Amino acid sequence: MRFSALLVFAPLFAQAVLIVPGATWKDTSGNTIQAHGAGFLKVNSTYYWFGEDKAANSALFSAVSCYTSPDLGTWTRQNNALTPIANTMISSSNIVERPKGSFNSEYVMWFHSDTSNYGAAQVGVATSKTPCGPYTYKGSFSPLGAESRDESVFQDDDAAQTAYLLYASDNNQNFKISRMDANYYNLTAQVNVLTASTLEAPGMLKRNGQYFLFASHTSGWAPNPNKYFVASTLDLNPVATYYSQNAFDLAVGTNALYAGDRWRSDILGSSTYIWLPLSWASGVPQLVWADLWNLNIANGSYSVVTGGTTYEAEKGVRSGSSTLISDSSFRNGGSVAITVQGSGAQQWVSLYIANGDSTWRNSTVSVNGGASVVVQQPNTGGGQIVLSVPLSLNLKSGSNTITFGAGQSNYAADLDKIIVYPPQPTAGTVPPGTTTTSSSTGGSTDWCVQVCTLAMFYSY
Ligand SMILES: *[C@@H]1O[C@H](CO)[C@@H](O)[C@H](O)[C@H]1NC(C)=O
Ligand SMILES: *[C@@H]1O[C@H](CO)[C@@H](O)[C@H](O)[C@H]1NC(C)=O
Ligand SMILES: *[C@@H]1O[C@H](CO)[C@@H](O)[C@H](O)[C@H]1NC(C)=O
Ligand SMILES: *[C@@H]1O[C@H](CO)[C@@H](O)[C@H](O)[C@H]1NC(C)=O
Repeated sequence: MRFSALLVFAPLFAQAVLIVPGATWKDTSGNTIQAHGAGFLKVNSTYYWFGEDKAANSALFSAVSCYTSPDLGTWTRQNNALTPIANTMISSSNIVERPKGSFNSEYVMWFHSDTSNYGAAQVGVATSKTPCGPYTYKGSFSPLGAESRDESVFQDDDAAQTAYLLYASDNNQNFKISRMDANYYNLTAQVNVLTASTLEAPGMLKRNGQYFLFASHTSGWAPNPNKYFVASTLDLNPVATYYSQNAFDLAVGTNALYAGDRWRSDILGSSTYIWLPLSWASGVPQLVWADLWNLNIANGSYSVVTGGTTYEAEKGVRSGSSTLISDSSFRNGGSVAITVQGSGAQQWVSLYIANGDSTWRNSTVSVNGGASVVVQQPNTGGGQIVLSVPLSLNLKSGSNTITFGAGQSNYAADLDKIIVYPPQPTAGTVPPGTTTTSSSTGGSTDWCVQVCTLAMFYSY
């Protein structure tokens, strides 16, 4: 059914794609997209997304997946680009992370190649005649004799299409940029080093002749405010990344797409993707938070979806031990039921939550007494820090009752409010409809641009 709807709508919305950061994204076969630590490549009119398959919820190497899309929204899984080879540095007991594709006379993939304790700190290189491969592994090595952990590849737009490796070196203390040789097999010279910068998770964009490096600080799987670096100023500037870590920054028209990972370290395969507009409208690069947004892939313009209706949690009907609170205390048990107006369609609903715990929580959600789905709720960095979590729900036309926290005994996050969005065109989008669990924005002064203060929380 979904495919016939796509065929009908595709011509109308061919250039616009709906992006829902933090939802659980499905491929065209209905399976959860497993492509963490992303790398993108555009070949002709097709986008290729390479990433780590973490379905086994392990950091160890299982596969570099390859997905293709005409529009950055509808993704089809192809053959794996790289799979483990026993008794090599890319065996299933080693680490392969952050695969980045590039092309000169053939397709060349670089990746972080490591032992399970991250002690080897090398890069790996593999090549292929086709974008998805499978790639032929050439080997792993220490670039210019030094360590390399998180890395990315930047291909310049000069005549020689010079490529660079961007990498966290020297025990993640010094961040380096080194030039590749003509066939992208090796490095020839270090061209820059950010000494004692403790950066990782890099990506680079070129805009109006300036190079922008985006990277996070080092805090394991936990998020931190990422930084950008402009080649002409050498300043490190904070950029809000909404509880996510940079994976890739993709130029689209005059803007860019920030593609980040929201890692869930205890269930790695449940980590979600935070993709946001990267805008220079204020003069400096900034991520624009949106519960839902549309990207025009032809020219990079974007629009944040508006028109949602807000329902405050404190106006809901409480039961059990749920209470109204004004601080960050938590209660076990209890539920809240909120009555909303629906449009007789699948609709995105954003849950604005706070979770001051150090681990993720979850909440059951039931519409009109139906079966519950479970929403993942990341720790938000403090009990007063609100993130939004997207959920696709089927709402009937008119009045609907959405119940949060019914029948669960574990702690759920505090609920501030929900926003019910009008139905969105489905063409060229991350397929909606299937239950989305998951997560969203970032908080604290480091990364909060929206509601950071709360009148009342709902706790249960
Ligand atoms: C891209 O287009 C060129 C020119 O038509 C063609 O030779 C090449 O095979 C295409 N690449 C892919 C990956 O389809
Ligand atoms: C890669 O480059 C380094 C430094 O220039 C050199 O020592 C090494 O032999 C090269 N490796 C290969 C496989 O060419
Ligand atoms: C991008 O294309 C869309 C659709 O054609 C158009 O509405 C919009 O004005 C364009 N934006 C820019 C910046 O060119
Ligand atoms: C929700 O979280 C609790 C721990 O607080 C866990 O026991 C339970 O399995 C989780 N439920 C789902 C469906 O993830």
